Amino acid sequence: MRSDILPLERSDRFCQGNNLRVPILLSPMAGACPPALSIAVSEAGGMGACGALLMQPEAIERWMREFRSASRGAVMLNSWIPDPVPVPDPLREAAVRNFLEQLGPKIPDGIERKQPPDFEEQCEAMLNTRPDVISSIMGLFKPGFVKRMKEANIKWYATVTTVGEAIEAVAAGADVVVAQGMEAGGHRGAFDAENASERMIGLTSLVPGVVDAVDVPVVAAGGIADGRGMAAALALGASAVQIGTGFLRCPEAGIPAAWADAIGEARPEDTIGTCAFSGRYGRSLRTTYAELANQPDSPDPAPYPIQRSLTQPMRDDANLTGDIGRMQAWAGQSAGLAQASSPARLVAEIWTEAQRTLGR
Ligand SMILES: Cc1cc2nc3c(=O)[nH]c(=O)nc-3n(C[C@H](O)[C@H](O)[C@H](O)COP(=O)(O)O)c2cc1C
Repeated sequence: MRSDILPLERSDRFCQGNNLRVPILLSPMAGACPPALSIAVSEAGGMGACGALLMQPEAIERWMREFRSASRGAVMLNSWIPDPVPVPDPLREAAVRNFLEQLGPKIPDGIERKQPPDFEEQCEAMLNTRPDVISSIMGLFKPGFVKRMKEANIKWYATVTTVGEAIEAVAAGADVVVAQGMEAGGHRGAFDAENASERMIGLTSLVPGVVDAVDVPVVAAGGIADGRGMAAALALGASAVQIGTGFLRCPEAGIPAAWADAIGEARPEDTIGTCAFSGRYGRSLRTTYAELANQPDSPDPAPYPIQRSLTQPMRDDANLTGDIGRMQAWAGQSAGLAQASSPARLVAEIWTEAQRTLGR
């Protein structure tokens, strides 16, 4: 809701209500969120985060135990609301398989039928570990789960990519909406996969649009990696920011060196949107594979999660050999601003610069 309150007053209130000293949230990043990174961010006053998409329930519980052994600070767990189960398309899958095998190792038979961890079981594990926040992406939790989160005093942060999705999320009970601009690294959280690449909205339009349409706090995500970006997001009406790519060069993130180095060298035009890694649209560095797979004569990707299973041997081989050309090198448009620094220093520097910019 639009109000006359000053940006830093708004973010102070958000901090008070959300167990934070600094209004900076680490992005939940499936596959790139070791506890050490979250511990460092939350000990610096921000919010740690775990992207649990690929984790079995025991791994979620283990992650949380490790986090809690080192920090009492704020923490968020996150998973994806599942898309409808895709209909197998053997011809398309064979074309993708053939394309990928020209670039990487042989793909084991049957890999495309590999099942991801069970979403309902992930939800139970997230609830049991009692984080401050559970966040959703790609859709909304069911009413029964929302009720149980609220009974457990866990806040629901819902990722949205349009004003319409924000209104739906608040009607379903979201306590906070995370407005994800098209600048963001990683998967784009559109509720309907078809809309992910069709409705590309930059943060400068999305944040005020969402702020004016809903009466819950708004967190801005996408392309924020320094104090200028944070100040701009707060000035647009956000109460806090969520940062992913900006933390990926920290040693605690533990990503392959070739990916971290390439992030540091990227210009805004050096990222690309593609479904070629997983079947779901996301933003990565403009790598050889992403460019090649996006060519009109390359095979159409299979839907998520089939495409993700098919690309796994290539991605694993790329990580093993340090080949950035075939890595799943997610990155947002402000990648080049990311610093190879400690998470605590980044949180402090970004927040100090944002406050100075906003006149504190
Ligand atoms: C490597 C990586 C993995 C991500 N994984 C997830 C995820 O599992 N769940 C989620 O809600 N968002 C995920 N995101 C998106 C982030 O939540 C957030 O929207 C994004 O990091 C913001 O843009 P930025 O990377 O430019 O800061 C991921 C982003 C990156 C870079």
